[in-house]
Amino acid sequence: MGALEHGWAELARAHHDRTDIEELRLKYLGRNSAITQHMSELGSLPQEKRRDEGQDSNFAKSGLEDQLVAVMELKRQAELERATREGALDVTLPGRPVTRGRLHPATLGLRQIYDVFSDMGFQIYRSREVETDAYNFEFLNMPPHHPARDLFDTFYTTTPNVILRTHTSPGQIHAMREYCPEPIRIILPGMCYRYEQISARADIQFYQVEGLAVGRHVTLSDLKGTLSDFARRLFGQHVRTRFRADHFPFTEPSAEMDVECFVCDGRGCAVCKQTGWLEILGCGMVHPTVLRYGGYDPAEFSGFAFGMGPQRIIMLQHRIEDIRYFFQNDLRFLEQF
Ligand code: PHE
Repeated sequence: MGALEHGWAELARAHHDRTDIEELRLKYLGRNSAITQHMSELGSLPQEKRRDEGQDSNFAKSGLEDQLVAVMELKRQAELERATREGALDVTLPGRPVTRGRLHPATLGLRQIYDVFSDMGFQIYRSREVETDAYNFEFLNMPPHHPARDLFDTFYTTTPNVILRTHTSPGQIHAMREYCPEPIRIILPGMCYRYEQISARADIQFYQVEGLAVGRHVTLSDLKGTLSDFARRLFGQHVRTRFRADHFPFTEPSAEMDVECFVCDGRGCAVCKQTGWLEILGCGMVHPTVLRYGGYDPAEFSGFAFGMGPQRIIMLQHRIEDIRYFFQNDLRFLEQF
């Protein structure tokens, strides 16, 4: 019974050290333990000894079992105490700074524009960035070999006639084909791509916000009124606008809209290059050919369209000198917004 006594002592110690209880259970109560061994030999004892020895053994065994349960409980308690102590919150520690995420300046600029146009009753229409030659050019009145295609340096794909859109105007056709013959009043924001020499003024990818209104009585006055109102809502109620004749194959007549320089109020400064005006967008009345490709009969329907580069507007508003900052992901730039 020496082994048993040793067992008691070891169990008593067990809750202090990290001895594995399961190990102890196997060792002192398991199949190969001294007590199990001893009890299996009881059968070979003479009758009169067997009873007393049996009782003693059972007593010792259940005593060990009780002890084991008690030690397990003690260990559990100790473990709990330790966890509570170690996990305790030190309220005097300085907190971890919470770094707040923020919106990208391009997103902020786009949302400003969305707000203005949605107040004016325009809905947002999204269309794909990967386009066919037909949607990007042909349906916009630029058949193959049309010289105006040179204005749009294009990224081609390995699939014939599949390109990255060079402007958001192909969305006009998608929208018209979807809505015809209903009237349309939408803006079409999104990323465009041009195969350009990257510089402070030009990147190969950039946002555009297109606008399109189609109906039975849409006039050039509607175009001028809508865009002048847009400029006032975005830049301030006092801001003046002017329209200069221009040319786009998909509008006729076409114009560029300038807003009075909001940096110098039109007096002339470095931002407006001393002209007092800032060029903001291209626009015009939807060309009859384009209306027809969209499914509308130009004898009955008319429309206006415009396209702007929101990043350019943000650059003017915040005096950002280099368009490349937008997609360089430099936190020193992004955290200023
Ligand atoms: N798509 C033209 C561009 O990218 C802008 C534009 C849109 C002009 C709609 C007129 C009407 O330059």
